[in-house]
Amino acid sequence: MKKLVAFFFIFMGMSSLAFAAGDAAAGKAKSAVCAGCHGVDGNSVVPSFPKLAGQNTRYLVKQMQDVKEGRRSIAAMTGILDGMSNKDLENIAAYFASQNSSIGKAKEELVSLGEKLYRSGNKETGVAACTACHSPTGSGNAPAGFPALSGQHAEYIATQLKAFRAGERTNDGDSKIMRATAFRLNDNEIEALASYISGLH
Ligand code: HEC
Ligand code: HEC
Repeated sequence: MKKLVAFFFIFMGMSSLAFAAGDAAAGKAKSAVCAGCHGVDGNSVVPSFPKLAGQNTRYLVKQMQDVKEGRRSIAAMTGILDGMSNKDLENIAAYFASQNSSIGKAKEELVSLGEKLYRSGNKETGVAACTACHSPTGSGNAPAGFPALSGQHAEYIATQLKAFRAGERTNDGDSKIMRATAFRLNDNEIEALASYISGLH
């Protein structure tokens, strides 16, 4: 029992290190260079630039590290993160996570297909329901670092699903969960999902 308790504390200690909360005020100052594309509060205006507002910190830090270390290639961000420490990235993540994401509006004619795929997947083609990992409201799963999708620009979502499908975005880990999911989606389904997600909350 004692051993178990000791193990528990070691485990908690480790995980609290891994989830060290960033300083949002310091992050806001560092994020000035991001604002031109992602918006001052993380609600970008241009639909090819993702909204970062309200995204969970674990996912944000992972993406920034992936970009910085070349596991995810984003031409527009070349060099931007080079001079930043892990602490800077955690602070920036804390800032954007503390902001509220704006919500878009799904195209009426795409809602029924988008909603069906998002909530139930497609049994015929083996597409898993998105709700399992991204939650029914699109808020994601913060402790697991699964991204929130709610309110994200449809254009950005569609680009990501196509990039996973084409094997151009490969930072979804050894399980290849998003590559395997997107591989089973056709263009129509991607358009419907992306539109539905942009209005989801
Ligand atoms: C010149 C424009 C530009 C600037 C400046 C910029 N970004 Fe980006 N960022 C992008 C684009 C474009 C993408 C998405 C590319 C794609 O389609 O995969 C992106 C993606 C991201 C993502 C991934 C979002 C997701 O949902 O997966 C994060 C995190 C991010 N940027 C953080 C930052 C931070 C932090 C800064 C400032 C330090 C910054 N960016 C500066 C253009 C920019
Ligand atoms: C088993 C869990 C799981 C399922 C099911 C799943 N996803 Fe994901 N998804 C993830 C994870 C994990 C990531 C982040 C990968 C990374 O770290 O880059 C992700 C990333 C994404 C992204 C990129 C987000 C961004 O901001 O760049 C999109 C878009 C997405 N998923 C859409 C979907 C859709 C649509 C479905 C349903 C058809 C779905 N996902 C099903 C786990 C899942």
